[in-house]
Amino acid sequence: MTVTYDFTGHVALVTGASSGMGLATAEAFAAAGAAIVLSDINETALAAAREAFERAGHKVAAIACDVADEDQVARLVEHTVATFGRLDAAFNNAGIQVPPSDAADETAENFDRVNAVNLRGVWACMKHELKQMRQQGSGAIVNCSSLGGLVGLPSRAAYHASKHGVIGLTRSAALEYAPRGIRINAICPGTIDTPMVSGMLAEQADAMKEILRDQPIGRLGRSQEIADAVLWLCSPGSTFVIGHALAVDGGFTAH
Ligand SMILES: NC(=O)c1ccc[n+]([C@@H]2O[C@H](COP(=O)([O-])OP(=O)(O)OC[C@H]3O[C@@H](n4cnc5c(N)ncnc54)[C@H](O)[C@@H]3O)[C@@H](O)[C@H]2O)c1
Repeated sequence: MTVTYDFTGHVALVTGASSGMGLATAEAFAAAGAAIVLSDINETALAAAREAFERAGHKVAAIACDVADEDQVARLVEHTVATFGRLDAAFNNAGIQVPPSDAADETAENFDRVNAVNLRGVWACMKHELKQMRQQGSGAIVNCSSLGGLVGLPSRAAYHASKHGVIGLTRSAALEYAPRGIRINAICPGTIDTPMVSGMLAEQADAMKEILRDQPIGRLGRSQEIADAVLWLCSPGSTFVIGHALAVDGGFTAH
């Protein structure tokens, strides 16, 4: 059985849209009829993604943006609205990993960088998306957290701090905007088969064994499985779901 959504006439913005789960989610929104704004820091990959969407006949714009830079984020949302007239759904997905580190040895540079992209980036995107959505009185935002937003793991303190922060941002802003017709939720993926994870698996020999041990389903997640959950959170199927941190993790956090 395939679940289908109809986002015809809607405008969706995805950050980190050139790769992994951002790309899969952008494809899913476009396949469901949305006009889609792809955004990424990687301009080459972004151009390739835009061409593929155009070839597939989708309504698409591509806007390069480093989410760690608030001015660029402000321009991203302005450009989105100038191009398509409104903003209905946003997946604030852009994020990075930093190498695992003993907490006593973590560098300030790594801590600041991972929080600048994963936490401040989500804050800036949400802030500027809300400026548009509060004028419309409608919209749905999904912020990308992680299983790392729900649990701790040794040697991952900086990344997990950023992802726990995303849930705090999400819950507080969701309370503020629920009465104004705007729903804000977070998604907490388990370990998903994306380029980010291939990089980690290449560097750490035992990582796959640990993932299969911790993820009761016994496999990596697929980007499409995250896209399905994000589209649901932006759809009329989830109108009473607000301020929720949804684990999509093959059972990891059920332990
Ligand atoms: N893959 C996983 O197992 C997993 C699990 C939990 C959460 N996540 C989170 O999911 C999100 C997407 O991860 P993915 O696995 O698809 O990774 P990915 O590396 O495949 O894709 C991330 C995308 O974000 C872009 N990006 C990086 N820094 C950016 C910046 N400063 N501004 C704009 N774009 C930027 C990259 O260019 C890339 O296209 C991230 O927030 C990540 O932390 C991933």
